[in-house]
Amino acid sequence: MTKGYLATFLLFSLLLLILNPTSAQTAAAPGPAGPPNITAILAKGGQYTTLLRLMKSTQVADQINNQLNNSNSGLTIFAPTDNAFNSLPAGTLNSLSDQEKVSLIQFHVIPNYLTVSNFETVSNPLRTQAGNSENGEYPLNVTAANNQVNVSTGVVNATVDNTVYSDGQLAVYQVNQVLLPLSIFGSHPPAPAPAPAAAKKDKSKPTSDAPATSDDTDTTSNYATRPTIDQPVMRVAFVGSLSLIAWWFF
Ligand SMILES: *[C@@H]1O[C@H](CO)[C@@H](O)[C@H](O)[C@H]1NC(C)=O
Ligand SMILES: *[C@@H]1O[C@H](CO)[C@@H](O)[C@H](O)[C@H]1NC(C)=O
Ligand SMILES: *[C@@H]1O[C@H](CO)[C@@H](O)[C@H](O)[C@H]1NC(C)=O
Ligand SMILES: *[C@@H]1O[C@H](CO)[C@@H](O)[C@H](O)[C@H]1NC(C)=O
Ligand SMILES: *[C@@H]1O[C@H](CO)[C@@H](O)[C@H](O)[C@H]1NC(C)=O
Repeated sequence: MTKGYLATFLLFSLLLLILNPTSAQTAAAPGPAGPPNITAILAKGGQYTTLLRLMKSTQVADQINNQLNNSNSGLTIFAPTDNAFNSLPAGTLNSLSDQEKVSLIQFHVIPNYLTVSNFETVSNPLRTQAGNSENGEYPLNVTAANNQVNVSTGVVNATVDNTVYSDGQLAVYQVNQVLLPLSIFGSHPPAPAPAPAAAKKDKSKPTSDAPATSDDTDTTSNYATRPTIDQPVMRVAFVGSLSLIAWWFF
């Protein structure tokens, strides 16, 4: 008969545990909202290590984070993947002066927040943070239709393959090529990447956009939430086993 009472009591506690919403909420408390952090966003993306390295060495990353913190009109960033950097002819980056590296990275940054549908109506050439957008300098053209976005510099034609991040202030778009500006590469465009690039293709299919296995802590709430262990189920299992043990002993 004590068994009956005990079972009722345990069942009741179990129900309370499952239905208690506060214990579930504490686990999912979001972090404080701050300005987005380009370094963290790219690191989380998992396939932007070269861009990240260049952004840090040129200090454009700090520049971007400062601009985002003094929020005015927002920013749009085109982020070439590591595959895009790897398919540049060998020595392309090393041949650049420090100032040219700064300009190259700034060329990937537009001083406005642009959505994919904004791209359909922008007027070309776009002005980038590299400055002068006149022909021969740093012009960047974007054409878009049916959710497809092409970016042209006069040296390369790239496509936007993915939205990495977008929060109304900052947009980061994955591009399949490094955007080489006319000003630096116009007179001597790098030769098309030779055979090795094709050999690497197997590893670099667009389908390899698998979720990053980066373990950076998530400081923003603009990513898809990570799957978490279903907590009610865990509690049921835990309390269930407790009940069983109690049942057995009493
Ligand atoms: C941005 O994130 C990086 C890496 O997560 C971190 O080292 C840096 O301190 C952050 N910067 C700011 C301004 O929060
Ligand atoms: C943003 O700017 C404010 C001052 O305007 C400063 O106190 C704060 O530390 C900055 N935050 C970041 C993440 O840089
Ligand atoms: C983008 O470029 C591709 C060729 O690379 C072309 O077929 C497509 O029509 C272009 N789309 C836009 C919107 O310019
Ligand atoms: C960019 O667009 C402008 C205006 O339509 C055009 O004059 C220029 O030739 C274009 N440049 C490139 C590289 O497509
Ligand atoms: C880029 O696209 C334009 C127009 O589609 C084409 O004329 C040009 O040759 C292309 N440039 C490169 C480097 O592929």
